[in-house]
Amino acid sequence: MTILEADMNFSASTAAPAKPLALVIGAGGGLGAAMVQVLSAPGEHGIDSVLALGRATQPAIDYSDETSLQNAAAWVASQCQMQGAELRLLIVASGFLHGAAGQPERSWAQLDADYLSEVFRINAIGPALVMKYFLPLLPRQGRCVAGFVSARVGSIGDNALGGWYGYRAAKAALNQLVKTAAIELKRRNPEALCVALHPGTVDTALSKPFAKVGLKTRPPEVAATELLAVLAGLEPAQTGALVDYQGKVLPW
Ligand SMILES: NC(=O)c1ccc[n+]([C@@H]2O[C@H](COP(=O)([O-])OP(=O)(O)OC[C@H]3O[C@@H](n4cnc5c(N)ncnc54)[C@H](OP(=O)(O)O)[C@@H]3O)[C@@H](O)[C@H]2O)c1
Repeated sequence: MTILEADMNFSASTAAPAKPLALVIGAGGGLGAAMVQVLSAPGEHGIDSVLALGRATQPAIDYSDETSLQNAAAWVASQCQMQGAELRLLIVASGFLHGAAGQPERSWAQLDADYLSEVFRINAIGPALVMKYFLPLLPRQGRCVAGFVSARVGSIGDNALGGWYGYRAAKAALNQLVKTAAIELKRRNPEALCVALHPGTVDTALSKPFAKVGLKTRPPEVAATELLAVLAGLEPAQTGALVDYQGKVLPW
């Protein structure tokens, strides 16, 4: 063995392993903020550091501006390099149900093009752009997980009540995007997972107007803890699924 070879072997064997880093997108929301809080606390998530991005962070992520996603992804890549870290957990906790653009529909008579555009933009198109810019940052080897927060009402098989046309359809689109991305991601890294998540009814601004008396809502910190435990327990074969906060796989 030459001195150079010996030196190279030494370097390879002593290189510090990359530290596992988590990124939460939609960190300003009820569930997103709770995800950041739970992941930042000392615990058993196997995460060394957490990055939080949303419309109010620097850099910002706003789904109405694709460049903001591109810039934010470049920033995350530079943070990983600086910290000697790898993106092992990506949580996308963004979503939209009601607001200035409108309210969920009770009947087809209320279908409105502007509301439909907004609900699709935030629940499906934005997360699709997250896939474009952030899934390539996941390592090509070893376990890594991307969890996109969806909703049970996006399940077509589970739709017994009707109503909420736009939100249901946008979450169904998100579920299909997750399934498709999971197939592509698995080709790059057989241990990588990409799943859609149903958080249950969580006490946030999104659910507030619809939380009826007696409806079981859970604090965001509880929902975040449950979802992170579910993600930690998933097998690679479960990639592409829609999974709820109890770890149950839901029908499409
Ligand atoms: N709460 C529930 O009972 C419930 C039930 C089922 C499913 N979900 C789903 O859970 C997820 C979290 O919702 P939540 O309850 O935490 O609601 P929330 O408090 O209203 O949070 C909404 C999130 O969407 C992000 N967002 C909104 N407009 C955006 C835009 N133009 N660009 C980028 N991000 C945008 C916000 O991020 P920033 O403010 O950081 O920009 C925020 O994180 C959503 O996907 C929701 O559909 C919630």
